[in-house]
Amino acid sequence: MKRISRVAILGAGTMGARIAAHFANAGIPSYLLDIVPADADARSRNKIAAAGLDAAKKSKPAAFMDASLARFVAVGNFEDDLKKLADVDWIIEAVVENLEIKRALLRKDETIRKPGTIITTNTSGLPVGKIAEGFSDDFRRSWFGTHFFNPPRYMRLLELIPTPEADIALINAVSHFCDVRLGKGVVLAKDTPNFIGNRIGTFSVLNVMRLMQEMDLSIEEVDALTGQAVGWPKSATFRTIDLVGLDILGHVVGNMTANVRDSPSTGRLLNTIHGKNPSSLRSTWRKISRTLALVCVLCSASTGLRRKMTRPEHSSGPRSPISGPTPPTASLKFRPRL
Ligand SMILES: NC(=O)c1ccc[n+]([C@@H]2O[C@H](COP(=O)([O-])OP(=O)(O)OC[C@H]3O[C@@H](n4cnc5c(N)ncnc54)[C@H](O)[C@@H]3O)[C@@H](O)[C@H]2O)c1
Repeated sequence: MKRISRVAILGAGTMGARIAAHFANAGIPSYLLDIVPADADARSRNKIAAAGLDAAKKSKPAAFMDASLARFVAVGNFEDDLKKLADVDWIIEAVVENLEIKRALLRKDETIRKPGTIITTNTSGLPVGKIAEGFSDDFRRSWFGTHFFNPPRYMRLLELIPTPEADIALINAVSHFCDVRLGKGVVLAKDTPNFIGNRIGTFSVLNVMRLMQEMDLSIEEVDALTGQAVGWPKSATFRTIDLVGLDILGHVVGNMTANVRDSPSTGRLLNTIHGKNPSSLRSTWRKISRTLALVCVLCSASTGLRRKMTRPEHSSGPRSPISGPTPPTASLKFRPRL
């Protein structure tokens, strides 16, 4: 099985820097690269990657298990440091959610990486196969999707998205590594728009927004109704969107709009999201809110019961002494994010 002992992460934003931090938690060194700022002088060419690493060091909940682990992450930039890609076993692309930008960067990497180096994308839902269309045979054999969720240290789910040309031995190597070293629950997903988690999550968020418009609810009311009251995390709907980033939500919804309009439920949602706000619905709101209150009480009760039942399993501790994946209580607090 291919050994993974050093990685490179392309893009030091919300996800890239925190993915690097989680590799550091597992004792794996990484190069964390990003663009050179337009106004950079000789000393500030790594400024963006360094700022990403700083943000990861300060993030709450903590991205690093211990602040000293940041020493495993070496920052650099796409102009001076791409040659370092020849030294790594796995390259993870985590730049802005834009097909052409991803392709342009990967074209540069194509000639630098050693043949057989695993190369994956953290895209939230762009077609994985299409990103590498026209690339070399070796590149496409080593190419697939690894979708970490936010925050990567705490979110157990990892979607692995094979393409028809991907080498099954490399997919198995990554799956095993992420399970044993990073503490992930690996799920195979098809290369369909937004894969699994974001397909469901986007439906849910858009549905909430549709109901919000129909019922004339405020942001605070929506978060009160879709947070801990129903057994969801306290970040509820709008605070979750803030965490993910409005731009990312926009890209993910745009991806749905472009690719799944034919789906009856999604098409209707996408069509009505900017729709009317019928005042007649206000009259039914009282009835609905009474039902919701009842649902909230029932959900809270069942969540309490579920937590009690699952606690011994969660507190059984990390499967790997090196990775120490998800702290038991943290895993109860977060749900998959875009
Ligand atoms: N934010 C989330 O919750 C989340 C979760 C899972 C997956 N993702 C996916 O991960 C990837 C990164 O998302 P993010 O939230 O870290 O985004 P981000 O905006 O925080 O970071 C993107 C990085 O891309 C870099 N970049 C911008 N323009 C570039 C260019 N022309 N060429 C190369 N790099 C450029 C930026 O400097 C930035 O550091 C996206 O594909 C996104 O869909 C995001």
